[in-house]
Amino acid sequence: MPCVRFRHLECLFLLLSAMPFEGSSIGVNWGQMATHRLPPAMVVRMLVDNGFDKVKLFDADPETLDALAGTKIEVMIAIPNFMLAEIGADPFLAADWVDENVTSFIHSGGVNIKYVAVGNEPFLKTYEEEFAASTLPALKNIQRALDAAGLGSKIKATVPFNADIYSSPGSNPLPSAGSFRPDIRDLAIQIVQFLHENSSPFMVNIYPFLCLYGDEHFPLDFAFFQGTNKSVSDGEFVYTNVFDANFDTLIWSLKKAGFPDLPVVVGEVGWPTDGDKNANVELAKAFNQGLIAHVLSGKGTPMRRGRIEVFLFSLMDEDSKSIAPGNFERHWGVFEYDGRPKYELDLSGRREEKHLIGARSVEYLKRRWCVIDPDADELFGLIELISKACSEADCTSLGFGSSCNHLGLRGNASFAFNMYYQVRNQREKYCDFMGLGTLSFKDPSDGKCRFPVMIAYGSVEGEKRVVDFVMAVVAGVVSLLILRRW
Ligand SMILES: *[C@@H]1O[C@H](CO)[C@@H](O)[C@H](O)[C@H]1NC(C)=O
Ligand SMILES: *[C@@H]1O[C@H](CO)[C@@H](O)[C@H](O)[C@H]1NC(C)=O
Ligand SMILES: *[C@@H]1O[C@H](CO)[C@@H](O)[C@H](O)[C@H]1NC(C)=O
Repeated sequence: MPCVRFRHLECLFLLLSAMPFEGSSIGVNWGQMATHRLPPAMVVRMLVDNGFDKVKLFDADPETLDALAGTKIEVMIAIPNFMLAEIGADPFLAADWVDENVTSFIHSGGVNIKYVAVGNEPFLKTYEEEFAASTLPALKNIQRALDAAGLGSKIKATVPFNADIYSSPGSNPLPSAGSFRPDIRDLAIQIVQFLHENSSPFMVNIYPFLCLYGDEHFPLDFAFFQGTNKSVSDGEFVYTNVFDANFDTLIWSLKKAGFPDLPVVVGEVGWPTDGDKNANVELAKAFNQGLIAHVLSGKGTPMRRGRIEVFLFSLMDEDSKSIAPGNFERHWGVFEYDGRPKYELDLSGRREEKHLIGARSVEYLKRRWCVIDPDADELFGLIELISKACSEADCTSLGFGSSCNHLGLRGNASFAFNMYYQVRNQREKYCDFMGLGTLSFKDPSDGKCRFPVMIAYGSVEGEKRVVDFVMAVVAGVVSLLILRRW
């Protein structure tokens, strides 16, 4: 007996110590809501260089998938919310979607697709009931189309949910009091049932940052993984961080729904670096490093032992994300918009001072900036010029608690002018601002606030418009030719 037990322990030890070095480790979200995007092949190189072996996308862009082809990276592709209604209503459309966006990439040297995300946080409270009726039908149609294509055992459809799909009542905010939100509880349980039948995981996005953002009095250290004096006791369990408490609120909700063992994947988790007083490089690094060490340690949460599969949010900053939730939305990246790492992060979870590897051979526009003319003293209308520039470019770093909040009025103007000028690919006419703008060849950045120079990969909008135009002309010529032949 003692021998067996010893061998057992040994195995366990080997398993635990071996885990961080092999197979599935840390995944990352690759969003593309940016005015200027690095070429997908360059980004894939970055993923490989850094050892990310899982990536989560928000659609099924063929150029992105082509770049991922031939790598071992496990890929989650996605169906955007706006397509849920039609895919839910029509199994043939679902089959077409799977044909074009999954099957055609499955071949030797193809893409290692593992999941299809059906919608993105479709039950978010702020969407009200918009996607409530279509999500489950779309999930079913996609999984059935995958099954029919012979891919169902390898590729699973699931739905990434916002953590507001479950909660504990305010009167008893403990994980064990958790359950699915009453207004969508029955639906959530039907979805859970379907996931269970298909051996698909439940996917949830967990954001401790938002606990701090939403509540002045939330204890800061409870958002992190370094221990806290404000630990929470729940029966026999003690929680020292809100990530575990939130995760276990879900486990309790699943348990009460009758599915205590359904696998759970964290689809998004991360910390932004700008756009709020708690959004900065120090806290982002502390959170992400603590998180990685925690999820790879294999300790799990009190309710769910073992390794936790997570996708960091996110790979790179995205300067055209909606800022309705807050200015921080454009600053979730572990890397800047141009693929430069923001801080050190050891993705193996060993907390070594390891450098992330940036994108290679990135090309930039010229080193020039648009700033307010130092000689301008008639500043009438300046506020309006700033807001106009900021309505089309990203000025979220100017806000309260952000990296450029200290600039003053003229500094604000320079920052806004520059962002607008860069996003417009440094065309000279976009640095006029009624004569108040002028070009500068000296970097106006200070220690805290950075005035970026844009990357030289075109504005996607601009390119698309040109392509659309060319396509329209081609289509016109073709139809003329056809007409003439008739
Ligand atoms: C495949 O995915 C792309 C990108 O999300 C989408 O635009 C396209 O409509 C999809 N194909 C089909 C046949 O639905
Ligand atoms: C807990 O409280 C003690 C005394 O107030 C303090 O020194 C320590 O830093 C606190 N620990 C944490 C993790 O906040
Ligand atoms: C600069 O802009 C920020 C963000 O809009 C604002 O909070 C700040 O008050 C502005 N500073 C001045 C001097 O106008």
